[in-house]
Order: sequence, then structure tokens, then C-alpha cells
Amino acid sequence: MAQTTRPATGNTNTTGPTGLAKGFRSAEQGWPELHRIPHPPRRVPLLGDVLGVNVRTPLQDSMRMADRLGPIFRRKAFGKEFVFVSGADLAADLADESRFAKHVGLGVANLRPVAGDGLFTAYNHEPNWQLAHDILAPGFSRDAMAGYHPLMLDVARQLTARWDEREAAGDAVDVPGDMTKLTLETIARTGFGHDFGSFERAAPHPFVTAMVGTLSFAQRRNVVPPLLGPLLLRGADRRNDADMAYLNRTVDEVVAARRAAGGSGGGQGDLLDRMLEVAHPDTGERLSAENIRRQVITFLVAGHETTSGALSFALHYLSLHPDVLARARAEVDEVWGADGEPAYEQVAKLRYLRRVLDESLRLWPTAPGFAREAREDTTLGGVHPMRRGAWALVLATMLHRDPAAWGENAAEFDPDRFAPSAVRARPAHVFKPFGTGARACIGRQFALHEATLVLGLLLRRYDLHADPGYRLRIAERLTLMPDGLTLRLGRRAGAA
Ligand code: HEM
Repeated sequence: MAQTTRPATGNTNTTGPTGLAKGFRSAEQGWPELHRIPHPPRRVPLLGDVLGVNVRTPLQDSMRMADRLGPIFRRKAFGKEFVFVSGADLAADLADESRFAKHVGLGVANLRPVAGDGLFTAYNHEPNWQLAHDILAPGFSRDAMAGYHPLMLDVARQLTARWDEREAAGDAVDVPGDMTKLTLETIARTGFGHDFGSFERAAPHPFVTAMVGTLSFAQRRNVVPPLLGPLLLRGADRRNDADMAYLNRTVDEVVAARRAAGGSGGGQGDLLDRMLEVAHPDTGERLSAENIRRQVITFLVAGHETTSGALSFALHYLSLHPDVLARARAEVDEVWGADGEPAYEQVAKLRYLRRVLDESLRLWPTAPGFAREAREDTTLGGVHPMRRGAWALVLATMLHRDPAAWGENAAEFDPDRFAPSAVRARPAHVFKPFGTGARACIGRQFALHEATLVLGLLLRRYDLHADPGYRLRIAERLTLMPDGLTLRLGRRAGAA
């Protein structure tokens, strides 16, 4: 479906005169009856709702506010105001594609300097969104996914080789660190035929360090007063420039290697082949070299960071719930057999393990929010008038805990919430870890296949022992990650 919403500002620069990312519109401009939307008490003149908030945890601060203020609230920082939605009814209304579309704002817009009009950061009106979407979507078809499966298995084998060593040495494993190695290698090899050699390194690959730097910087820019930004972020700005230059260089090398290999990765038909060689089926148009660079960065980043977090949270919950682990493992044994490697079709058959993954993504959707803007003047939930271009951020973490949809025990981990009968009993649009509508995640099936495959392999091979002293801490860098999570492994009795 073509995306037609145009920015109400008509401005096409990456940043506006205030230094704020383009696409930013303070709520005062878009919500004529803003006064009806609650905000935290004790606003500080000029500064706004800054009491009790922490620049490193804007999402968790917003979650606490949602808890106190209800399904819709506003936050003000340094003269600019944002509307947040966490209630199931209002989020369902925002999912109406005829009235709302993706809004590229806040953190996402802050990534424009590096990801430009790549799929994730493109404004709805930019022609490269539709062009790239149509060219790349077949790269996520069932056939394409079946082609990635053996490469995913290769990378998973590298992970288990590493974990075998750690287990034999009696060392704990760094879960987010190793999941990041795994997911980076997986998207790099399946999508781009590139090997970062992550498992041969003790430290994260510099690509990951640069990416984390860029994501953290994009988040920090939201919480620094615009006029003070140039002063407060001077050092960070320079580091961010260096990080972006590193990301660009890495991507240019990957593309150059493929072109040198004759343009086609040996006819692999991977994402990079599509970017370089495939023309739009109707118009014959191709992606430009500059746009390909943006897409490669987009896919390398979007294609691993969130999946890594999803796997890490799932392993955390599995380690704390032996009954769930035992049930998931019994399913793996039954569907895959005790040894050998699963065929492509055998992964989606792990229905209970998928529920574990869904339940982990419910509690901690690793892309914790997404923004929606009004295509035309409208009224949200029949109550809150919005002008065309006005927008709200859907807090998926809180939508996923709304008692109206999930019950009073919404904070508890229970994979059976995703049993088919329970899913059918819930209203639509209450589970949105992959966003919504035309701009929802293109890599959803890829992520779910990869994560289910890897969890199945790990459960079949290891016992997971949580560190009894660990309390879940959430690291925020636009995405979410369990901070400092380690597990001790045991070799499962009888595992090959
Ligand atoms: C558990 C893993 C993942 C989660 C939770 C996730 C979440 C999301 C969300 C919420 C959006 C919509 C953002 C918005 O509305 O602003 C999105 C978009 C996107 N995701 Fe994912 N994602 C995951 C994995 C992946 C993977 C594996 C890939 C690529 C292989 C990928 C590529 C993208 C791209 C390119 C977009 C932009 C789509 C567009 O606007 O056309 N994601 N993702």
C-alpha cells in the first residue's frame, strides 16, 4: 500500500533550525485539546516534566508515568511536549491505517544522518520507501527464508561451539554479548554473504560498538535541550561522526566485495543481490548506490539488535521458569528428535517455544515503541482531536501490560497467554512487538525463525542456571536489552 502522508512542515532537511530531528512537531501544535490529556504533577517552569527522570532510562520513566497517568498522557521536556499512548483501545485506534501512518520522529528521526531514506527511517512520502519495499519484500518470502536456514544453522553451530567451551571451563556466558554475535553474523551472512568473524573475537566487533554508539546517541539527543545540544553533546557528537563514518566504511567494503565478485554473490539471491541487481517489477527502477548504502546499514542494524534482545530476554525467563523450560524442551525432543539438525519446516512446528518467545516480547518488546501520525484531521478514540500530522508514541511495553487486555496478572510471565484460544479471546492490536500497518517490520518472519531455531538448539543441548543474585535490569539504547545478564550452563544429560 502506498504511503501518502506528507510532513505537515514540508521541510525535507534532516534537522530543523532548532537542531531537532525533522518530523518533530510538539504536541501543542497538533492536539487542540491537549489540556484534557494528563501530565505528571510538579512541572518545572522552562524544563518541564524532569523531576525523577533519568536521561539513561527514558522508556522506563515513561512506563512509570503511564502506570500513574493512564492510557494516554503527555510529557514535556524543554518546552516541547509529546503524547504517549499505552491503552489498548487507543492503540487499536492508532492502528487504523486509513487514518494513521508511521511517524518518523524522536529517536527514529535522529537516525536519519546514518540511515537516511533507508526502509526504517524513510518518511512515508519518500519514493525510495515503496521502491525498496517492493524490491526487498521477496527477500523475506518463504522460499527465501528456507534458503537462509542452513546459514542460520552454521552460525548457531558457532555459538554452541563457544558455549561448549564455556561450559567445560565452568564459566558463565554473557548472554546479550553472545546473542549479539549470533544475530549479527546471521543477518550479515544470510543477507550480505559477509562474515564479521564475531565468534573469533573476545570483544564485540567494532561494527557493534559503532552501532551501539549511534543508537545511544540518537536516544540521548531526545533528552538534551535543543539549544544546549551543541554544547552538551560536543564530544559525543564527534564520537558519533566517527561511529557513522565507521559504519559507512564497513558497508562500502561489503558492497565493493560483492561488486568485485561479479555483482552477484554466486547467484545466492540474497538481500544484497536484490539491492544491486533487481529492478522494480512495474517501473523498472533500481536502487541508487547511495540508497543501497543506507539499506545495508539499516538491515545490518535492524536485522540483529532487536533479535538479540528478544533471544536474551527469552533465555532469562527460561532460566527462571524450569517448568516452562521442561515443556519447551520436551516439545523440541518430540518435534526434532533427540539429535540431528532440524529441517526448515521443523522450526515453525515448535509452537510452545514460539509462545515463550512471544511472551518475552510481550513483557519486553525490544523495539519498545513506535510513533503514529494522523493522515488527516481526526479524533483519537472519539475523544482527542488531532490535526493532520499530529502524532503519538505507542508505548508497546505498557500496551502489552494493559490489564484490560491482559488481565490483572499482566506483569507475570506466562507463555500460555499465546495459546490459540487465549489469542482468539483477546481483541486485535494488543500485541505489537513488530509495529503495525504498512511500515511494520519486514524482518518479522526472519527474526522469529532465527530465534526459535536457536532457542530450540540451546534447550536441547544445555541446562540453564540463572545467577541467583541477578535482578533484571534493562539497558536502553532505543532498543532494550537485559543488562549484565549471565547464565551458567550445564551439559544436558544425554545431549550429543
Ligand atoms: C525480534 C526482532 C525484531 C523486532 C522486535 C523488530 C521490531 C520492529 C518494529 C517495531 C518496526 C516498526 C518501527 C516503526 O513503526 O517505527 C520494525 C521495522 C523494521 N524492521 Fe524490524 N524488528 C525485528 C527484527 C528485524 C529483522 C530480523 C530485520 C531484517 C532482517 C528487521 C528489519 C526491519 C526494517 C527494515 C523495518 C522498517 C520497515 C519499513 O518501514 O518498511 N527487523 N521492526
